[in-house]
Amino acid sequence: MADLNIRDCFSLLIEDHRAVEELYERYSESDDLESKKQYLRVFIRDLSIHSGIEEAYVYPLMDKNLKHGGSLHQFSLDQHQHLKEDLKYLDTTELTEDNVTDFNQRLFGLIADLKHHTDHEEKDVFPAMRDALSMEQRADLLSQLEKAKSMVPTHPHPHTPNVSLTGLNIITTIQGYIDRSLDLYKGVDKK
Ligand SMILES: [Fe+2]
Ligand SMILES: [Fe+2]
Repeated sequence: MADLNIRDCFSLLIEDHRAVEELYERYSESDDLESKKQYLRVFIRDLSIHSGIEEAYVYPLMDKNLKHGGSLHQFSLDQHQHLKEDLKYLDTTELTEDNVTDFNQRLFGLIADLKHHTDHEEKDVFPAMRDALSMEQRADLLSQLEKAKSMVPTHPHPHTPNVSLTGLNIITTIQGYIDRSLDLYKGVDKK
């Protein structure tokens, strides 16, 4: 069994999970609307980036390396799709005093689904992939993930077909470029 204490590509993905959970905590604990909006923007950005790098580089590796990898790949994409559809509403609706209760409920529901998804990844999927991949494959994957973080989309795009190709496809690359250009134009806050 692979050593789970070594920092590798899967540690990076698990750190992403903790980071978005923390952003949600900060959103929940904050009472003023402007702070909530700021945490929400970063939450949406970081979750979109995390989903993008998994879809481009992690999930395609399931196909050849895991038992029933093809169906697990599709199952994981379906869960991402569901999350993106919910996230899209939060990304395109202005948070106001009038809708904050509805907003919080929707976000709470999304967090429950996200937790279910990340638990599955951390308890079942990542340990199985750690065992199945060689050290060299894991090192390659880590550098691909780190590089792709600055390229994948920063917003959810549920209407873009999920194609099971390895690497960044042309649509994802263009969407990433457009998202990042608009973020820059609008001055979306850094963490
Ligand atoms: Fe995922
Ligand atoms: Fe994940």
